Amino acid sequence: MDLYRLITEDHQEIRKTVKLLVDGDRSARMREKDFLSLWREVMSHQIAEEKVFYSPLLESDETELIANEAIEKHGLVRTVLRELDKATPAGADWAAKVKVLGELLEGHFRDEEGETFKMARAVLADEDVEAMAKEFAAMKKRIAPMQEPETARAAAQRRLAEPLPTPSPRACGIAP
Ligand SMILES: [Fe+2]
Repeated sequence: MDLYRLITEDHQEIRKTVKLLVDGDRSARMREKDFLSLWREVMSHQIAEEKVFYSPLLESDETELIANEAIEKHGLVRTVLRELDKATPAGADWAAKVKVLGELLEGHFRDEEGETFKMARAVLADEDVEAMAKEFAAMKKRIAPMQEPETARAAAQRRLAEPLPTPSPRACGIAP
């Protein structure tokens, strides 16, 4: 198992989901579904990456700064994700926030796949990276179900609170 490939594959999946979210033709309902997928993908990826990949990079003088920067960027991504979680998919600010999120993610992926991987390869031993790959995959599986956004609960409550549609008098056969 190749840790660098696993991380790059995750980036590809996240890119695909962001692309769906910026597609203006998707309905608000589809956007909500896409957003839930994005939330799960990003959260489980970032948490596993911080615990398995960045934590040993923080231990080395050569990679401490780059690891800290990456963790800060993860925080920014999570801030925008939480903002999106509070926004309405049909609202005017939705598209702007998604665009900002896409740019943040893209810049971060570029840094990781370029400079960070290069420095990590110089610092981490191959056999350690192999063990880290297994741990990364296992951790993602373990934590994915725990990464539910507030949206899922809020959307369900909102739908439950909505009044049932009132049938028109004509549909009931009591209007001419
Ligand atoms: Fe990352």
